[in-house]
Amino acid sequence: MAGQIVEQQIEKIYQEALSQVQTSSQVDQVQSLMVQYLGRKGMVTQFLRNVSRLPAEQRPQAGKRANDVKKVLEEAFQKRLQEIEGSQIAEDTGIDVSLPGRATFRGSVHPITQITRRISDIFSRMGFDIAEGPEVELDHYNFECLNIPKNHPARDMQDTFYVSESIVLRTHTSPIQVRYMEKHAPPIHIIAPGKVYRCDSDITHTPMFHQVEGLVVGDGITFGDLKGILTAFVHQMFDTQTSLRFRPSFFPFTEPSAEVDILCVMCRGKGCRVCKQTGWLEVLGSGMVHPAVFENVGYDTSRYSGFAFGMGVERIAMLKFGIDDIRKYYENDIRFLKQF
Ligand code: PHE
Repeated sequence: MAGQIVEQQIEKIYQEALSQVQTSSQVDQVQSLMVQYLGRKGMVTQFLRNVSRLPAEQRPQAGKRANDVKKVLEEAFQKRLQEIEGSQIAEDTGIDVSLPGRATFRGSVHPITQITRRISDIFSRMGFDIAEGPEVELDHYNFECLNIPKNHPARDMQDTFYVSESIVLRTHTSPIQVRYMEKHAPPIHIIAPGKVYRCDSDITHTPMFHQVEGLVVGDGITFGDLKGILTAFVHQMFDTQTSLRFRPSFFPFTEPSAEVDILCVMCRGKGCRVCKQTGWLEVLGSGMVHPAVFENVGYDTSRYSGFAFGMGVERIAMLKFGIDDIRKYYENDIRFLKQF
């Protein structure tokens, strides 16, 4: 019987406090309610103090209920204070601060940009500088200076977008090598990332794609340096266990030339669709800079030697991310792009 009366007491305090806080519309009203109920001599505080005088069997329940009431009232007072403040701001400024915020959508870095940055980071840490050149390029730089004569198949109308007879959309980043050497004396160690264009379109080719060019020139640069740098690059880009091979090849602006293959990342060399059953994947072209290119920029070929390389960013991205259709990168499907 006595237990019930005690319960009714705290419930009464609770209900009264709640209804009073809900009808108060001024900050100082709420503040005095806080004192009245939760202050040192407040009703809830007094009640809690008196719990110790209750019969032992009533103490736990009464104490717990009073503590819960205290907590709920504290929150109710704070909430009401915020509401009053909010409506005050609304009145003063016409802005309803209680409205939920508008959701903003966060973009993400395009996978091709991510890979380009990764490649640039790896070479920057090895001491390479970054160079750039124009996408609309003179035939002179895109071909002529790179030892690609007028009748070379790479100039065929099928591959090259001609703007005029002497101007093209660059078909590779190699013209940046020439432009850079014209302005700088050795030693040179640069990479040059950028867009390139070829009249080609299927599941592994888009008319615009990205390359990263590399060029190192100095005294006594050898093919061993080329192998060392490119091996270090592949090991950092893929993983240190990745096997690679240098396969003899041909480019008019390098001699000797080599393409670099890595062991197929999909089948680990067993042979699959991605590596066309060869077990190897081509990742870049490279070679020792052809003396004719040095002559075109006025370098002393008896003193300087160097190597150059060029890689397709989309190709490396496809291998890193396991994507087999290059066109996906350019369809701008947010669901695809969000995954990287
Ligand atoms: N420019 C060549 C290509 O687009 C790649 C390359 C660059 C090869 C530098 C050798 C040296 O295929």
